[in-house]
Amino acid sequence: MSTSPVTVRINLPQRAYDLLIGHGLLHDLGRQVALRCPAMRAAIVTDSNVGPLYLDAAIQSLQAAGIAAAQIVVPAGEASKSLNQLSQLLDVLASHHHARDEPIIALGGGVVGDLAGFAAAIWLRGVPFVQCPTSLEAMIDASVGGKTGINHAAGKNLIGAFYQPRLVCIDPACLSTLLPRDYTAALAESVKHAVIADPAFLAWHETHVHDLRAQQAETVCALIERNCQIKARYVEQDEREEAEKGVGRAALNFGHTIGHAIEAVSSYSLRHGEAVSLGMVAALELSVRGCGLSDVDRRRVEALLAALGLPVRCAIPLDANELRARLGADKKVRDRRVRFVVTPKLGETDWLIDPNEEDLRAAIDRLR
Ligand SMILES: NC(=O)c1ccc[n+]([C@@H]2O[C@H](COP(=O)([O-])OP(=O)(O)OC[C@H]3O[C@@H](n4cnc5c(N)ncnc54)[C@H](O)[C@@H]3O)[C@@H](O)[C@H]2O)c1
Ligand SMILES: [Zn+2]
Repeated sequence: MSTSPVTVRINLPQRAYDLLIGHGLLHDLGRQVALRCPAMRAAIVTDSNVGPLYLDAAIQSLQAAGIAAAQIVVPAGEASKSLNQLSQLLDVLASHHHARDEPIIALGGGVVGDLAGFAAAIWLRGVPFVQCPTSLEAMIDASVGGKTGINHAAGKNLIGAFYQPRLVCIDPACLSTLLPRDYTAALAESVKHAVIADPAFLAWHETHVHDLRAQQAETVCALIERNCQIKARYVEQDEREEAEKGVGRAALNFGHTIGHAIEAVSSYSLRHGEAVSLGMVAALELSVRGCGLSDVDRRRVEALLAALGLPVRCAIPLDANELRARLGADKKVRDRRVRFVVTPKLGETDWLIDPNEEDLRAAIDRLR
């Protein structure tokens, strides 16, 4: 690596860690891991797409730092966030006698990070965990903040743990092989961060639409850094989403309550970010109706999503009743009431609890 990485620190008591962002950083993975979780061995979890591309480089870097790495390759795709895949992963750890000081390293997108992170949280009641995100979604969202987990037939991410990594090692060079669809989908999370926390960052997106779509290297690095900073602040303030006053970390779920329902209804044929883009369009409608967001601002965000190549209307048929049933299974349900994160004003968030039937229907209709 020619220049030193940009560092974003997550300051949590006893569990502070660094997010390092640098072109070519994958080749320095071993040294960075050795500095933070010294061990002779590690297990590296990746998927069937990422493995052939980056596993050799990661393993060589670990070897150069004196760490022998076992490799575990899971099938690419959301279906790997399952109890069955977790069970197979734990079987491999058991057969390797994976010890308490030996890190588990996730090399891949959010699927690998969520699965490997959950395995790290529960194997021997917790072994060191390192995130090496290779998708944009994982670089700007999934690898940051310690949420790990798998899906249940009843809904997404219903089984999981808060478990912070020791290090997040982000090498934007890995994005060169990501499918354009996956890159674009992840931009939805960046727009989400801007909408809930940083109107100036929203304007930045608007002026950088062309460079973002072209994956211009410096623009993408700036995007990753700002997203990591925004998410880090939420995690520091409300690590376990327990805020009693205000929305706290749950603000990051903006667009996700309906987004997760759409993701499930689509049988995961939509990318997570695509479903989030649609979920945000619905949440913006709820914001206009329920807490006074101006129609001008709503249209501004919808226009940005569309300009970035994200869906703002749903190509698949949406059955309102099925969506409603899915909403009932969401983790945001408390006291049997469905809670939506809404934005009264760009850069601010609030809860909207049990919106009336007409508003909910209008939010779903907005997607047609
Ligand atoms: N834990 C969290 O806080 C959090 C936050 C956001 C999303 N998530 C989860 O993350 C998942 C979505 O993440 P994702 O979009 O990264 O999905 P993903 O892991 O399925 O990756 C998307 C696709 O890109 C491929 N890929 C990844 N990196 C690549 C690279 N560099 N080159 C070529 N191909 C590459 C993968 O194999 C996969 O096919 C969802 O399960 C979502 O729930 C978790
Ligand atoms: Zn998301």
